[in-house]
Amino acid sequence: MSQHPPLDWRRICVQHLRTWVDLLHAAYAGNLAMGMNFTAATMTMQRGEQFLADRLVWGGFAETRLVATFTLRRDEEGWHLNLLAVRPDQGRQGYGDLALSEAERRARNVGAAELLLDTAAEHPWLVDFYRSRGYVAYGHVQKPGKTYRSVLFRKPL
Ligand SMILES: CC(C)(COP(=O)(O)OP(=O)(O)OC[C@H]1O[C@@H](n2cnc3c(N)ncnc32)[C@H](O)[C@@H]1OP(=O)(O)O)[C@@H](O)C(=O)NCCC(=O)NCCS
Repeated sequence: MSQHPPLDWRRICVQHLRTWVDLLHAAYAGNLAMGMNFTAATMTMQRGEQFLADRLVWGGFAETRLVATFTLRRDEEGWHLNLLAVRPDQGRQGYGDLALSEAERRARNVGAAELLLDTAAEHPWLVDFYRSRGYVAYGHVQKPGKTYRSVLFRKPL
């Protein structure tokens, strides 16, 4: 049984942009403090607006409060999950798992046969988290401007 109320998933649109950017900053501040400069940690309103235009940005709401988010985008490699985040004051209550499952469901709905994501190789637990949820590492990459090495993961849906 889940310990938390279900979330109402909606596409984030421009009127929620400030709230969404604030959630990303709050969620990713810990990563930044550990020296990992994930894109979300320094998201600007301008860049955020671009994200809304070029990918599917989903928000999980508890009543009017934005609790979790993820984005899906497609390129020549396939569908990517990015910017998974949960409000830090509501962490460790299962929302991260809920958001990951929702992302996989939404990706299947748009025809994805697999989902791609990446995370920081040196993060203390994210690599194990994705592995334990069925993601398989298939390589590493050093992205331009990033202070960490990325592990590339894929999962068949
Ligand atoms: C990653 C994130 C979305 C997880 O959200 P969450 O709501 O705390 O996750 P859940 O409560 O569903 O927990 C899922 C699993 O994550 C792992 N986990 C979450 N927080 C953890 C912590 N502080 N330490 C170790 N493991 C942790 C555990 O494996 C946990 O499973 P378990 O409870 O069965 O052990 C959230 O921590 C977050 O927003 N982090 C900052 C942004 C980020 O790093 N996103 C991912 C970028 S690739």
